[in-house]
Amino acid sequence: MKFQGTDNYVATADLMLSVNAAIALQRPLLVKGEPGTGKTMLAEEVAQSLGLPLLQWHIKSTTKAQQGLYEYDAVNRLRDSQLNTADSAARVQDIRNYIVQGVLWQAFTADAPVALLIDEIDKADIEFPNDLLREIDRMEFYCYETRELIKAKHRPLVFITSNNEKELPDAFLRRCFFHYIKFPEPDTMKRIVEVHFPGLKDELLTAAMKTFYDIRGLPGLKKKPSTSELIDWLKLLMAEDIPPAALHSADSKVAVPPLVGALLKNEQDTTLFEKLVFMNQRNR
Ligand SMILES: Nc1ncnc2c1ncn2[C@@H]1O[C@H](COP(=O)(O)OP(=O)(O)OP(=O)(O)O)[C@@H](O)[C@H]1O
Ligand SMILES: [Mg+2]
Repeated sequence: MKFQGTDNYVATADLMLSVNAAIALQRPLLVKGEPGTGKTMLAEEVAQSLGLPLLQWHIKSTTKAQQGLYEYDAVNRLRDSQLNTADSAARVQDIRNYIVQGVLWQAFTADAPVALLIDEIDKADIEFPNDLLREIDRMEFYCYETRELIKAKHRPLVFITSNNEKELPDAFLRRCFFHYIKFPEPDTMKRIVEVHFPGLKDELLTAAMKTFYDIRGLPGLKKKPSTSELIDWLKLLMAEDIPPAALHSADSKVAVPPLVGALLKNEQDTTLFEKLVFMNQRNR
């Protein structure tokens, strides 16, 4: 099993190295990086290119580790016990009918190896990663209701993504292989855009990329636009048939580009940008 990038996803050499290192070590790959730099997509693409089914677990602030293992549906069991039909009486006898399997359970008991994505682990509370230490390390957990040990038949290939909203505990980090997706260099970015818009006119691409990196370089931006925003913006520019010349002024100083709402996402940033453009124009 070796990951070498896909037709839909541009992976830099160091990213491929990290993915393959995690595969070789059989440890989860912890991926960090700015929003929109392809962390979630990486898991989807690696799974697809290795031919593994992908189980996804999207973490929210209310997600508990136990939900990834299993949940005991006591309410349903109580209802069945009150129904008094032969069918429900038979069901109530076996507690396994009320165990709802979580993604980890499914991943552990799958007949063939699978990939597992734990997306945005930093959204959960601080105990969440600690509660999964043993499961991730030993790839097993105990179901108290049915008194059985659920042990992975095959070690799943685990991807964990984080936007760095919370620090992860050291004990958790020890069990992972870490990769930070650096913001793509212009060359890599060109390849990414090419994947999304094959045959895009070079002139438009160059002009758009210049404006994009200029905006990213503005000091004091609250939210820098990222890969996915550039792609959205290019899509709009093409749909509206905007000429490359409209993206910057004749003397190649900053101008407010059309559809800037695809790149700047809050009023402080747009105001900052407009001020800069205004100052630039006065200095001409
Ligand atoms: N290396 C890449 N190759 C191709 N497309 C990419 C790449 N990186 C980012 N993209 C584009 O950016 C979009 C966003 O990627 P994705 O959702 O994986 O980002 P993310 O890092 O998970 O962001 P978030 O932290 O907000 O969840 C993708 O749908 C894809 O269109
Ligand atoms: Mg994501």
